[in-house]
Amino acid sequence: MEKRQVLVTGATGFVGRHVVETLCQHGYQVRSLARRPQKWTAGWSVEPIVADMRDGSALTAAAEGCAAIIHLVGIIRPTPAQGFEQAHVTATSNMLLAAARAGVGRYLHMSALGAKAGAKSEYHRSKWQAEQLVRTSALRWTILQPSLILGPGGAFTNQLLAWSRGQALPYFFMPYFGGGWWGQKAATKVQPIYVGDVAEIFLRALETDSACGQTYALAGPKVMTWPELLQLAAAVTRGRPKLVLGVPFWLGKLLAQLRLPGLPFTENEVTMAGEDNIADTTPLRTDFAPLTLTEPWRGLALAAGQVAK
Ligand SMILES: NC(=O)c1ccc[n+]([C@@H]2O[C@H](COP(=O)([O-])OP(=O)(O)OC[C@H]3O[C@@H](n4cnc5c(N)ncnc54)[C@H](OP(=O)(O)O)[C@@H]3O)[C@@H](O)[C@H]2O)c1
Repeated sequence: MEKRQVLVTGATGFVGRHVVETLCQHGYQVRSLARRPQKWTAGWSVEPIVADMRDGSALTAAAEGCAAIIHLVGIIRPTPAQGFEQAHVTATSNMLLAAARAGVGRYLHMSALGAKAGAKSEYHRSKWQAEQLVRTSALRWTILQPSLILGPGGAFTNQLLAWSRGQALPYFFMPYFGGGWWGQKAATKVQPIYVGDVAEIFLRALETDSACGQTYALAGPKVMTWPELLQLAAAVTRGRPKLVLGVPFWLGKLLAQLRLPGLPFTENEVTMAGEDNIADTTPLRTDFAPLTLTEPWRGLALAAGQVAK
């Protein structure tokens, strides 16, 4: 693709900041769309657009003149102002309509690994519905479905580092959701991917014609159980293991239903933690070769400021 203007939605978010930085480094002119301009990082040569995904005409104006759209907007926790349906399905539908109206041909869509018809969590079901809108559009689309994303500025990464340093409840141990009555059984698996690799894959997908019409699972080089990931964070920040305890799913759901203030998870997140979130990365490595995926320890060490980029 010729180096031209790209519209990035969700540009002020964790992934968005890395995607924008990568595009700028490769000579793209970036229009960065979000609702809160105060979150924009100084030093970027981007054109800021203040808009809400609900505002169809603002989206069309933002898309005018762009060669491509990277649509990253999404939420992990619903708020009274915005549920999964609005943030994933309606926002995608509005973006696709705006792309068509503005005559933008290329469209990259951020989904999530685990999105499927009849998924157990509302997050994954709404991501799937949004994917289906993309697939039936007339645009030249690519869908990217990451597992857990680790790296500097990530809300979950920060939580993980704070637990491992004893700076967040429950301070003296690190929790994960486990099966059985006491949470000691069947820890599920995850395959975390470094945020810089996610940004690089978006760039490669943008520049690879054969990626049009494809859906890629994005996952890192290691399949790990949740307790293994927690211990990795402890090793990175403390240089030694920390006590890791399984919280039973039934208790997690009960606590979430009580909506205790400050609880760092929702019922939906407990449901998602009950399933493995892993994938075969062969299509990714083949279509975007050569691709070196960052080891999770390095992603955590970069986030903890213990190694330089
Ligand atoms: N982080 C992960 O581990 C992970 C894993 C798999 C998939 N994903 C997906 O990756 C995407 C980005 O995730 P993230 O971790 O970067 O999330 P994030 O840090 O919460 O960023 C979300 C972005 O969306 C914007 N946004 C939300 N609602 C909006 C609305 N109504 N109108 C305009 N902008 C809106 C936010 O900006 P303002 O609030 O400032 O407007 C922010 O820029 C999401 O689609 C998420 O589902 C993330």
